[in-house]
Amino acid sequence: MSWRYAAVVALLLMVPASVARADDEKPTIKSIMKVAFKDGLAQKVATGGASAEESQQFLKLCQALKELKPPKGDAESWEMLTKSLVDAAQAAADGQEDAPALLRKATNCKSCHGPHKP
Ligand code: HEC
Repeated sequence: MSWRYAAVVALLLMVPASVARADDEKPTIKSIMKVAFKDGLAQKVATGGASAEESQQFLKLCQALKELKPPKGDAESWEMLTKSLVDAAQAAADGQEDAPALLRKATNCKSCHGPHKP
């Protein structure tokens, strides 16, 4: 293999990595759902089983979610639902005692999917 060929291969291999980085910077509701909700991070934070790092990660994901536009439902409802989610995640990150109760309510899948998931 010539070094030129190797360089081309290396460049091609870098493409998917840069796409993945772009994903990290610009998350979608779907990607946040997967990481924060479907894979159990929300439950972990809500039941107090998350590390400080995980709680911070969850808070960041909730803040990012709040900035996104849902594919369905009105903006006011989204603002309200995601605000209580961010507040609950903040409470958890701060180690407040009422955080689990707040999170159980704010992370209710159905009450948000009903109005906002197509
Ligand atoms: C604050 C609102 C909100 C909460 C809370 C919420 N979701 Fe979602 N979720 C959404 C929206 C909006 C979509 C639709 C995204 C789209 O189609 O672009 C969605 C989509 C999804 C999807 C589909 C993703 C895909 O790739 O199509 C899964 C899985 C999911 N949510 C899991 C959950 C689970 C599990 C919970 C509860 C533990 C939960 N969500 C709580 C707003 C929420």
